Amino acid sequence: MAFISKLTLTDFRNYSSLGVGFHHGAVVLTGDNGAGKTNLLEAISFLAPGRGFRRALLADVAREGGSGTFAIHASIDGQDGPAELGTGTTSPDILTGESSRKVRINGANARSAEALLEWLRVMWLTPAMDGLFTGSGADRRRFLDRLVVTVNTSHSQTTSAYEKAMRDRNRMLTDNVRDDSWFAAVEAQMAEAGTAVAAARAETLRLIAAMVEKLPGGGPFPQADLMLDGVVESLVSEMPAVEAEEHFRALLAQGRERDRAAGRAIEGPHRSDLRVRHRPKDMPAELCSTGEQKALLVGIVLSHARLCGEMSGLTPILLLDEIAAHLDAGRRAALFEILDDLGGQSFMTGTEAALFSSLRGRAQFLRVDHGSVTRED
Ligand SMILES: Nc1ncnc2c1ncn2[C@@H]1O[C@H](COP(=O)(O)OP(=O)(O)OP(=O)(O)O)[C@@H](O)[C@H]1O
Ligand SMILES: [Mg+2]
Repeated sequence: MAFISKLTLTDFRNYSSLGVGFHHGAVVLTGDNGAGKTNLLEAISFLAPGRGFRRALLADVAREGGSGTFAIHASIDGQDGPAELGTGTTSPDILTGESSRKVRINGANARSAEALLEWLRVMWLTPAMDGLFTGSGADRRRFLDRLVVTVNTSHSQTTSAYEKAMRDRNRMLTDNVRDDSWFAAVEAQMAEAGTAVAAARAETLRLIAAMVEKLPGGGPFPQADLMLDGVVESLVSEMPAVEAEEHFRALLAQGRERDRAAGRAIEGPHRSDLRVRHRPKDMPAELCSTGEQKALLVGIVLSHARLCGEMSGLTPILLLDEIAAHLDAGRRAALFEILDDLGGQSFMTGTEAALFSSLRGRAQFLRVDHGSVTRED
């Protein structure tokens, strides 16, 4: 179990300088539109690998009118005792004008942001994800890979290895390289990494599905059936990984001329999709109502959080932005119960504290007001 006991922000979005202490368990942040609630959650999302939950450009994250860089610092109470996590940007490079994100753990530079996963896991549900089931396959794939990497920390490495090999091959295709042995070498790399990516996705979904079974049938968060739609994912479900890798390699070799015409790889885990069905209604998620889709998504994220907790002892910190908006009173109460039961730290935002009134006495209530955060008891 790990939780953030203190967060310090410098020139992050609308916060010039902020220091705030958090309790373990549920934290409720309320405030007017534009107060800085989502920004605070976004800062916490930078304590995971990636670009934060808005996937913003680093330059947009630094406070307008500030120094041009930002810093986030978190004191955590971790499984192995307290730790200090820090991240932020460096001053822009004089030549390129670009700045990069650095991560520090206990005062030392970390090799990559993935090192954060040893201390903390973070997952989120934001209003931007409301259209996940109806939106682009790329967004669903990103969501899927975040579920995977939070359980299986080597997943981002294999994903990067796959993408790098694919980019190399795409370049060979557009440069009209004709050397078969070059293609064979890069396709072998793609097949090896791509099969590992697909296998990790399939394994994580299998484990999440086992947790989904524990959601009460007929309960507020419907059971979801999760399926992977992808060539290599199908292969790994039908045969041992070594054979799937061999098949994928052969598919790439066969598809070379077709891919050359397209200028890129047409098939592979970079094209896979996550299909979700609402089991009680026997309906694809994309045909469900807004509230039903939200309830499905909440069910998946909570099942995944339970899985992480059981597998690694690190129940993810949950960032639930405007979570109450689409949930009726019964579903809100059920959500609070499940969060309690999970036992991790969760951050919930809303404009109205009244939506969280049943959490009084059980959660920490904070008021966000234009760059400052105060206790609201
Ligand atoms: N780089 C930046 N520098 C300064 N201010 C910023 C920056 N980026 C965003 N903001 C401002 O931060 C403010 C707070 O944004 P935030 O999204 O956190 O609000 P919120 O409290 O979640 O509001 P809502 O209830 O509408 O969702 C906004 O007014 C926004 O314009
Ligand atoms: Mg907001």
